[in-house]
Amino acid sequence: MTAATRTSWDPAVWRDKPTAHQPDWPDSCELARARLQLASAPPLTTPEDVRAVRDALAEVATGRAYVVQGGDCAEPFGVAARRGALAKDRILGVLAERISRAIDVPVLTIGRLAGQFAKPRSEPTEVVDGQVVPTFRGLAVNSPHPVAALRIPDARRMITAYRTARAVMRELRGMWVSHEALLLDYEEALVRTDPRTGSSYLASTHFPWIGERTRDPDGGHVAFLAGIDNPVGCKVGPNAVPDDVAALCAKLDPEREPGRLTLICRLGPRARTLLPPLVRAVREAGHPVVWMCDPMHANTRITSTGVKTRYLDDVVGEAAAFHETVNELGEWPGGLHLELAGEDVTECVGGSRVPDETALARRYTSLCDPRLNNEQALLVADEVSARAGR
Ligand code: PEP
Ligand code: CO
Repeated sequence: MTAATRTSWDPAVWRDKPTAHQPDWPDSCELARARLQLASAPPLTTPEDVRAVRDALAEVATGRAYVVQGGDCAEPFGVAARRGALAKDRILGVLAERISRAIDVPVLTIGRLAGQFAKPRSEPTEVVDGQVVPTFRGLAVNSPHPVAALRIPDARRMITAYRTARAVMRELRGMWVSHEALLLDYEEALVRTDPRTGSSYLASTHFPWIGERTRDPDGGHVAFLAGIDNPVGCKVGPNAVPDDVAALCAKLDPEREPGRLTLICRLGPRARTLLPPLVRAVREAGHPVVWMCDPMHANTRITSTGVKTRYLDDVVGEAAAFHETVNELGEWPGGLHLELAGEDVTECVGGSRVPDETALARRYTSLCDPRLNNEQALLVADEVSARAGR
């Protein structure tokens, strides 16, 4: 989409496209009310800040900076959201400083914060304590409590999500934020016009991204994010072929602008083999993307007792493979995307606090995927530090 077509873009564009992972809201009046309320709510970000993040990511795309993005898989509501955000802000700052010192470029941080409230789920139901219940889809949609009635999507939750995001933004005082732009009823209602340029930007966050399950180049999520001025991300998983990635780049970065598009690769144990054809396809098509590594999402395992976890060795292994391979291909491995907690959780296996799977039960509080604790995140940062520089 060019600047000219972006001004004629309609935020409702996704409604007549295949759009996966949207809730079946049972009450259309509640939904309409929530959308109206969000549409008249104050923006959470300004066009100036969105532009600043895009400019900062342009520095990353051209190899003059590095970015660390991180936070919860699914953010909580209430005081836990605000407290958690400050703790995550702190650890992100520590990681950035450590990497910056090692590789000698500025490192910016972007939180998975103030909006990470909706989750794509592979299955419509899950078994909790022997009961089959509809899956938890993030606090903007339903409750994590494993009770069937509380798992029914409730559009009023989008208002609580917005209010929480607003409170988190206030608490952070200027930190840059991101989330998966999954729930398009929420995102559409938070599109605003930049009065200076007349074009649209997404005021729910600075840096929205498209998830692995919703990156269909002809789908609703891509059509939606194609029309906004924000820098955007897109996850790239092990099933992505070079043509898919080239098609995504064509839709999301038609003007080939550094900083506009970040490809967040989550490729798993085959990263070393899968990356070269993808990197070459993007280079041949002339898109100056940020190459970012998410070493978490293709390394999820279920223990023999049914606990979702990740092994630090797998995470470190993919981070190392990504940085080495992208470097060898002559591109800049520009960023790291982590699910991490500010607290000393025991959700991933590795490091001194979680030597084996039996230690996972001590402090497992994630609402969705397992997060790294501080020690584990620092070990990943050290691995990256050893391999990211030129
Ligand atoms: C996530 O980032 O929490 C997520 C669901 O990732 P992906 O889309 O890569 O699976
Ligand atoms: Co996750």
